[in-house]
Amino acid sequence: MVKIIFKGEKTIEVPKGTTILEAAMEHGVALYHTCGGNCSCSTCHVRVLSGAENLSVMSLEEAQVLDSFDLKSPIRLGCQSEVLRAEVEVEIPSRSKEPRPNKTPPVPDSHD
Ligand code: FES
Repeated sequence: MVKIIFKGEKTIEVPKGTTILEAAMEHGVALYHTCGGNCSCSTCHVRVLSGAENLSVMSLEEAQVLDSFDLKSPIRLGCQSEVLRAEVEVEIPSRSKEPRPNKTPPVPDSHD
C-alpha cells in the first residue's frame, strides 16, 4: 500500500500503482476528469507538494497536455500519475474541483 495526502481534505492508503484520480474517485475526493482519464482535458491536474519522486515518470503525452494548457511543474495529471512507493502529497487547485461549463449547444426544441 502507498499513501496519498490530499492537502486539506484527507489522507488515504491505496494499492501501489493506483493513479491519483482513481484514488480520489474511490475515496470521495472531488477531482474533475472531463475526458474520463484519457489524458486530453487537464481537468484532473493536481499540484504535487512532496513525493514527486514516488510517482510514475511523466509520459510524453502527459507533458504535451500540460504544456498545451500552460501547466508547469509541479503540476501533474491525476489520471496519469501512479503512486509507486511510499507517499505523495498533492493539492487540488480550486479549478480542478469545479465542473467545466458545458460548451455543447442546447438541443433545439422539436415542438415547432
Ligand atoms: S481526466 Fe482528462 S486529462 Fe486526466
